[in-house]
Amino acid sequence: MHKGNARAFTNIALIKYWGKKDETLILPMNNSLSLTLDAFYTETEVIFDESYTKDIFYLDNQLQEEKATMKISQFLNLVRELAGTSCYAKVTSKNFVPTAAGLASSASGLAALAAACNQALDLQLSDKDLSRLARRGSGSACRSIFGGFVEWEQGNDDLTSFAHKLSSDNWENELAMLFVLVNDQEKDVSSRDGMRRTVETSSFYSGWLADAPKDLAKAKHAIQEKNFTALGEVAEANCLKMHGTTLAATPPFTYWSSDSLKAMQAVRQLRSTGIDCYFTMDAGPNVKVLVEKKNIPHVKAYLETLFDSAQLVTAYAGPGIEIL
Ligand code: PMV
Repeated sequence: MHKGNARAFTNIALIKYWGKKDETLILPMNNSLSLTLDAFYTETEVIFDESYTKDIFYLDNQLQEEKATMKISQFLNLVRELAGTSCYAKVTSKNFVPTAAGLASSASGLAALAAACNQALDLQLSDKDLSRLARRGSGSACRSIFGGFVEWEQGNDDLTSFAHKLSSDNWENELAMLFVLVNDQEKDVSSRDGMRRTVETSSFYSGWLADAPKDLAKAKHAIQEKNFTALGEVAEANCLKMHGTTLAATPPFTYWSSDSLKAMQAVRQLRSTGIDCYFTMDAGPNVKVLVEKKNIPHVKAYLETLFDSAQLVTAYAGPGIEIL
């Protein structure tokens, strides 16, 4: 029996990963940049044992059906190939997210699984190689290996596409991200399908791709300079460009709901009163507000006039993977 147990934290991109140039290897079209957060995480235990006759996957105490287990099995196949074993595994995962958050947990989930497998089979992968492995499970998972600000280098093959931590003098500890949870339903269009559709059909996609490296350079410069306004402005603009691509896809789609727009408008309203804060959104309707810690009370107080306080969750910068 070989056992491993690890925790990984979720990350939210400030410069988004949107589109793959290789669907099998999960190589992205552009570099992305994220902040790892402390509020949402996954703990995963994996046991490889000769006696198992198939892979078994428990998520939040529930035995998962074929579709979810298949995704895990595909990832475990990569691990088995690396380790030179044919042992099946039992994977037991628990997501720590606020009730009804409805947040995608694939980044923390696959990063935790990769780290647990690394430990269980004594693969002795470096953080870089662990990031490459997690990437094969879910692109954004490669960033959750590291804490703080993280960049995912797109690379051009399996060896060269991985994430690394950005030096920031711990500036991220002065920042926070306020989640406005507007919906806990399964998303209509998964990030995988959404990306594919926009890459293949959206006439706005070329604009996204042309701007991504410029946005990334601006964000890295802002982090270096600890310039909150510059970082927030480019993150918000980059998010809007990503979401813009979906409107020109065939068929067109959007991840926004009326409550997403309400939250975005609230952020603009706060800025007009001199409170520096910026929004970002991923492949779903929830809105995340980037804010300096000192301004959390103002931002929260205003958002509480518009949303239920149970819909608001504050997250701070989080660490990289932890072996349990
Ligand atoms: O890693 P995935 O397949 O869940 O894709 C994540 C895509 C976005 O969340 C929309 C952007 C990002 O960089 O995290």
